[in-house]
Amino acid sequence: MNEIVEFIRKSPKAELHLHIEGTLEPDLLFKLAKKNKIRIPFSNTEEIKSAYNFKNLESFLKIFYQGSSVLIKEQDFFDLTWAYVLKCKEDNIVHTEIFFDPQTHISRGIDFDVVINGIYKALEKGNKEFGLTFGIIMCFLRHLDELSAFKMLDRANEHKDKIIGVGLDSSEIGHPPKKFERVFKKAIENGFLTVAHAGEEGPPEYIWEALNLLKVKRIDHGVQCLKDSKLVEKLRNDQIPLTVCPLSNIKLCVFKELKQHNLKKMLNEKLMVMVNSDDPAYFGGYLNKNLIESQNALNFSIENIKTLLINSFKSSFLNDEKKIKWIKKFD
Ligand code: HPA
Ligand code: ZN
Repeated sequence: MNEIVEFIRKSPKAELHLHIEGTLEPDLLFKLAKKNKIRIPFSNTEEIKSAYNFKNLESFLKIFYQGSSVLIKEQDFFDLTWAYVLKCKEDNIVHTEIFFDPQTHISRGIDFDVVINGIYKALEKGNKEFGLTFGIIMCFLRHLDELSAFKMLDRANEHKDKIIGVGLDSSEIGHPPKKFERVFKKAIENGFLTVAHAGEEGPPEYIWEALNLLKVKRIDHGVQCLKDSKLVEKLRNDQIPLTVCPLSNIKLCVFKELKQHNLKKMLNEKLMVMVNSDDPAYFGGYLNKNLIESQNALNFSIENIKTLLINSFKSSFLNDEKKIKWIKKFD
């Protein structure tokens, strides 16, 4: 195995942009559909694989929400999350901050507690069994309205012991961050950390709004930032983390191929970027595969990879002591 691949595999990593519903692999999807008697428009893995050809974010989200409809019981959310925890072990992810989308489940009559408890128990088991540390971030679906988001915030307040922050995901274009300014203000007052998807497909203006109006600590994706030099300057000066997801960007046609991805340019601009897997069951790979394929396409050096991995810890919501502990391993 080549040296750099070996280095990627063996190094400790933090993952900061991962939708737990996006880790639902076809085998578990079929199993849960059968158990819960949910009709899905596929009869085998081959059909699923051919449906996973997306032309943009919107076309992915339709399939993604359909897939999530097989999750009914607390045990289903546990099994989903436990499968991801095992992937963390395999990829040497030692810390993960995962998103979940309660509105996707509430709208199907699934109780908030069922969702959060299933996810949390699996992560706790991962922590006990092999020391995986974690944070859970609740995302608001931006295509829904402010009132619905406020209702989710009320539910999150009942689970402050499990939820560290709130985020914003789903269809970006036409749903600017400013739509949720008041919700984020209240979330911050309630003690939640904040992040938001911005500049995945949407314009740099959405990244400005996420920073200035939502006061987020991190931008999820953010790859459109290079279109605005003032924004690049701000992101560099403030070292605002951008949670980049290379394979996701290719699958959703943000870039035509990995060789054209702007991750290396962002790194050269001294931006606080790192690599993440987003929805790995749908986009063709977990974190190590994202790193290995990006390295291959963009010709990253070991130093570049080190920077990306150190950035993953620097940008996490771990305390300083834990950040330093992990970063020291790269000396
Ligand atoms: N973007 C927006 N919403 C999402 C994504 C994404 O990449 N994945 C799951 N929900
Ligand atoms: Zn995402």
